[in-house]
Amino acid sequence: MNLGFIGTGKIASSIILGIFKSNLKINKIYISSRNRNIAKKLKGRFSRIKISSNNQEIIDKASVIFLSVTPLVGKKILNNLSFKGKTVISLISTIKERELKSKIHSKNICKAIPLPFVENRVGPIIICPKNRIAKKIFSKLGLVIEVNKEQLSFNFWATSSFMASYYEIYNSMTKWLIRRGLKKSQATNYVAELFFALSKDALLKKNIGFDNLVSESQTPKGLNMQVLKELKKAKFYEKINKSLNNVYKKFKK
Ligand SMILES: NC(=O)c1ccc[n+]([C@@H]2O[C@H](COP(=O)([O-])OP(=O)(O)OC[C@H]3O[C@@H](n4cnc5c(N)ncnc54)[C@H](OP(=O)(O)O)[C@@H]3O)[C@@H](O)[C@H]2O)c1
Repeated sequence: MNLGFIGTGKIASSIILGIFKSNLKINKIYISSRNRNIAKKLKGRFSRIKISSNNQEIIDKASVIFLSVTPLVGKKILNNLSFKGKTVISLISTIKERELKSKIHSKNICKAIPLPFVENRVGPIIICPKNRIAKKIFSKLGLVIEVNKEQLSFNFWATSSFMASYYEIYNSMTKWLIRRGLKKSQATNYVAELFFALSKDALLKKNIGFDNLVSESQTPKGLNMQVLKELKKAKFYEKINKSLNNVYKKFKK
């Protein structure tokens, strides 16, 4: 199987790095010369990468094409490309299935939401609608969740927007520890390990439900109870819901 990437940015590069760590059988990966630095780095690391500055050439040489450009670029370039007979996996957040189909005359189109940690072959990957080839590829890179209704998939696009704000919690806590006199390395190690352990625990205990995990993590009148109470009072969690609603609105347009 030959893969092609239209747009070699952050997410394309994460997928490619994940693929080369997996046992997925691929022949060559054709990538766009944009972004130049990322394309050059990938080519330098993997001999099966081929760079092209011509998007149509990438499509012609591959059987599976990933659309990994931003929505604005996608709207500009897709009409002028021919995808006949190809499997197209669009990663473009806000170009909807209907618009995609009107621009790309291929019968085999789906959208997917991989996130940068596919590079480490972990995490959830939404595929909508179900697609055999997309599942074959992405099941090597994380946990595939197939959704058939596009309207439902928009909810996952909204939740996928929480990466930066999640890491900002790490950032704030690390900076707080440093201000209190801890060494940067101690603070960074502590925070990374703390959240890794919490994430692993949550994954292992997901069947008991997150409500129970919240209860289990508090000693009556203890420190965790105090922080949770303060954050709830400050409407921290209500704000999370509000932001999710606001991001979701982008997909309703
Ligand atoms: N990053 C994520 O976590 C993530 C997750 C899921 C889905 N997505 C979606 O994936 C898409 C790409 O996101 P990204 O974060 O990877 O963005 P990005 O890093 O900005 O990558 C976009 C790439 O497209 C290239 N490009 C621009 N014009 C082009 C053209 N005419 N032909 C070919 N390539 C062109 C850009 O090259 P230059 O730098 O040279 O302009 C850049 O390398 C977006 O639609 C986003 O919604 C992203």
